[in-house]
Amino acid sequence: MSPESAAGAVLSRAFFEDPAICWAVPDDTARRGLARWFTAMTRWAQRFGEVHALGPAEAPTAVSLWASAPADLVQHVRAGLLAPTLALGPGPLLRFMRLGDALAKWHHRLCPEPHRYLAFVGVDPPHQRKGLGAEVLRGELARADRLGLPCYLETATEANLIFYRRLDFSVVHHGSMVPGAPGFWLLKRPMRST
Ligand SMILES: CC(C)(COP(=O)(O)OP(=O)(O)OC[C@H]1O[C@@H](n2cnc3c(N)ncnc32)[C@H](O)[C@@H]1OP(=O)(O)O)[C@@H](O)C(=O)NCCC(=O)NCCS
Repeated sequence: MSPESAAGAVLSRAFFEDPAICWAVPDDTARRGLARWFTAMTRWAQRFGEVHALGPAEAPTAVSLWASAPADLVQHVRAGLLAPTLALGPGPLLRFMRLGDALAKWHHRLCPEPHRYLAFVGVDPPHQRKGLGAEVLRGELARADRLGLPCYLETATEANLIFYRRLDFSVVHHGSMVPGAPGFWLLKRPMRST
């Protein structure tokens, strides 16, 4: 398995019960198939941002994908994200597009300045709550501090707020992005001097 596929597999297992992913892709079998989509997201981050992983490249335990902004249409095409996104089928595709569009608008509104965007972080479920999630973020957070940049992320899981607050993120908005979809917490971490 390539490092990108291995990272995609970890992210799809980590996000299997994520409220927003469950809303967009309610069918369990289809959600297991999201490994291909997360693999393409990993390729996008390799090309347009940063990928951090812990453990062996062919079997990582934790993965984080960073960029300076969400993927736009040109990046979708260039990173090979279109085919796995279209393959999700019309319902999930429409829900992903509506959610992505709404999140991107809030993102631009709340964090228009240069920053680091945490697109995804996931720890393989058997390895969660052992400190790996914080560890796989530490390098990029330190880099953001060196560069004097804030960081931004979104989560649909309230339980994650404790985790992110420990890393100095705070909630800048909470609410519904799309009618019927789970609410999101939008978080920002201020730039810090090192
Ligand atoms: C969120 C996630 C990346 C955290 O990684 P992790 O390795 O489990 O977290 P750490 O061990 O570094 O930190 C654990 C601390 O975070 C908090 N925390 C993390 N997940 C939690 C949960 N589900 N419920 C309650 N607290 C949680 C707790 O304070 C916990 O400390 P404790 O174990 O002493 O109670 C990981 O749980 C994960 O992959 N979740 C599924 C995917 C996801 O939601 N990703 C983030 C979306 S933006």
